[in-house]
Amino acid sequence: MAQFLDNFLEQDKENIAPLYGKADVEFVKGEGSYLFDTKGNKFLDFVAGIAVNALGYQNAGIKQAVIDQLNHFNHISNLFPNYPQIELAKALREVTGFDKVFFCNSGTEANEGCIKMARKYFNRKGETNRQKIITFVNSFHGRTYAALSATGQPALREGFGNMPGDFVHVAWNDVAALKAEVNADTCAIMFESLAAEGGVMTLSKEMVETINSLQKEFGCLVIVDEVQAGTGRLGTFLGFEKYGLKPDLVSMAKGIGGGLPLGVVLMRQAIADQLKAGDHGTTFGGNPLACAAGLSVVKQVCATGFLDNVKARSEQLKAGLKALVAKYSFAKEVRGDGLILGIALDESMPVGNVVAAARNEKLMVLSAKGNVLRMLPPLNVSEAECNEALAKLDVALAMANK
Ligand SMILES: Cc1ncc(COP(=O)(O)O)c(C=O)c1O
Repeated sequence: MAQFLDNFLEQDKENIAPLYGKADVEFVKGEGSYLFDTKGNKFLDFVAGIAVNALGYQNAGIKQAVIDQLNHFNHISNLFPNYPQIELAKALREVTGFDKVFFCNSGTEANEGCIKMARKYFNRKGETNRQKIITFVNSFHGRTYAALSATGQPALREGFGNMPGDFVHVAWNDVAALKAEVNADTCAIMFESLAAEGGVMTLSKEMVETINSLQKEFGCLVIVDEVQAGTGRLGTFLGFEKYGLKPDLVSMAKGIGGGLPLGVVLMRQAIADQLKAGDHGTTFGGNPLACAAGLSVVKQVCATGFLDNVKARSEQLKAGLKALVAKYSFAKEVRGDGLILGIALDESMPVGNVVAAARNEKLMVLSAKGNVLRMLPPLNVSEAECNEALAKLDVALAMANK
């Protein structure tokens, strides 16, 4: 069925709560790394649903997995064990080495789950003093109350009343500030393996070493938010593997569902041992359709050579972005890792102007905090598509500079 409306943006404004600034573009179909609008324009999509469409649009494996599952059942609740959940949990355990899996629907829920499980773990062990969770300035962990409290962006909390307490934010990569906060009352240190929304910032080697040693010294938990950086996006299945961290709890979402709403908490056995039926739960979490899609994603991302493509495309894009930084004086530096890449711009060039200019060139990119241009291509993006993106971005930067 054709998905046509007279004017998408006007009808969106009329019907949808005004919580997003939406672009005036009318997409009706996706195919691989491309999106098509009502006029037949073809856009190269380096937004990928904000890192959700890990395998692009119309991925045959995901489609087939969902159709197969629809022929069994679409939902039966968490009162009954079911095949897609169990198979996905087994695959995740095998590829990550974690011991138990909790399924939910989104990134914020996965982080809520991690936070609740971390506090419950210490509570059941009788260490009720361990409440404090340390996160980072400009981090993003989600919009529900605890995840919002964890998020290091005070503006997002404004006007929403009292927040869950005992969250402390320290500056990204500020080793001294972190050391000053962690003590025997610390429940957890929580952070993204790559701070994507906050400005495409990578962890320093010194910070990784500090987190590892504080975890050992004080017995606090380490929670890594892999919602955006996980599922292969940094060239390893989970981002932290690349940096040598040893988290106790991990949150996943976005790419793991391949476009279906799926969130995941991975935990060590010691944490699972402290949990009881009824401690936490969700109606939709681990929905069989989403888990069937997730299993297809895991199989494809873990197939031989897949992550090599992520690494090769990352190097290709980094080199291309470096050349653009050398060419345009308002472009300061290349940021990021894997396929979360960006360019930090100086104040003379608002990132929104570049995003709009890129859209004119039929390239979809997005921004991150701190005037940073961000690119999140699908993980199976091709060499030719990366060259196309770089050429389009070159024109967009020139046009934005006029
Ligand atoms: C690192 C990170 N954590 C959590 C979230 C929240 O995920 P969701 O929007 O699915 O709740 C996001 C979303 O952008 C994210 O990038």
